[in-house]
Amino acid sequence: MLLVRLLATAAISACILAVGAAGQPRDADQVARSVALFREAGKVLQHPRCLNCHPVGDRPAQTDAMRPHNPRVVRGADGHGAAGLPCSSCHHAANFDAARVPGHPDWHLAPASMGWQGRSLGEICTQIKDPARNGGRDMAALLRHMSEDTLVGWAWAPGAGRTPAPGTQASFGAVMRAWAESGAHCPP
Ligand code: HEC
Ligand code: HEC
Repeated sequence: MLLVRLLATAAISACILAVGAAGQPRDADQVARSVALFREAGKVLQHPRCLNCHPVGDRPAQTDAMRPHNPRVVRGADGHGAAGLPCSSCHHAANFDAARVPGHPDWHLAPASMGWQGRSLGEICTQIKDPARNGGRDMAALLRHMSEDTLVGWAWAPGAGRTPAPGTQASFGAVMRAWAESGAHCPP
């Protein structure tokens, strides 16, 4: 809801800018709008559903309170866990609500270069734009990942006992797209 509302507000303020400035919106307004869009997207990016899987260290977190994962598991060589205890030994293709275990066919941890826990929104913004840290994605690939990837999409259907990310994956994708089109500026 919030995302949808901000998108509407952004669209309205874009119209006001275009009309009020007779064709030439000031750069500062454009930057402010872009930063405001990223802050709105940050309600998703910094939600526990995303942060739990984007740790800076080797261990995922769990629950809305973002407690360290119990039992202790580590990312391993490829994010799929240590050889003796892969993620897939507990996380199956779909959520298993009876035991509160979330699931997805490709359940694994984001690489350390994509760690977001404890980082400011400005830091997250800078690193997700950086192909050296974001898996070599240009902006089009980044937008596609956020609006279409099903592991990202899990955050809106996370199973029993956890709060879904706000809005919908589509509304999140729309905010990210509007952010990119406004110049992809980052919060300070
Ligand atoms: C021994 C079983 C087991 C293994 C192995 C395991 N997990 Fe989990 N994991 C769980 C259980 C159970 C939960 C649910 C805990 C809860 O919410 O009460 C969970 C929850 C999570 C969550 C929290 C989701 C959320 O937002 O609430 C993440 C993230 C996660 N696991 C990632 C991983 C990753 C990545 C691996 C492999 C590196 C892994 N897990 C390996 C049992 C396991
Ligand atoms: C189950 C774990 C898991 C969850 C939950 C998760 N991610 Fe990720 N994320 C990953 C993995 C693994 C990668 C690396 C994928 C690759 O590069 O192919 C990744 C990569 C990304 C990237 C690529 C760029 C970068 O620098 O991080 C973005 C953007 C992203 N995730 C967004 C999100 C958002 C937004 C959410 C929550 C709505 C989310 N993810 C939830 C595991 C997860």
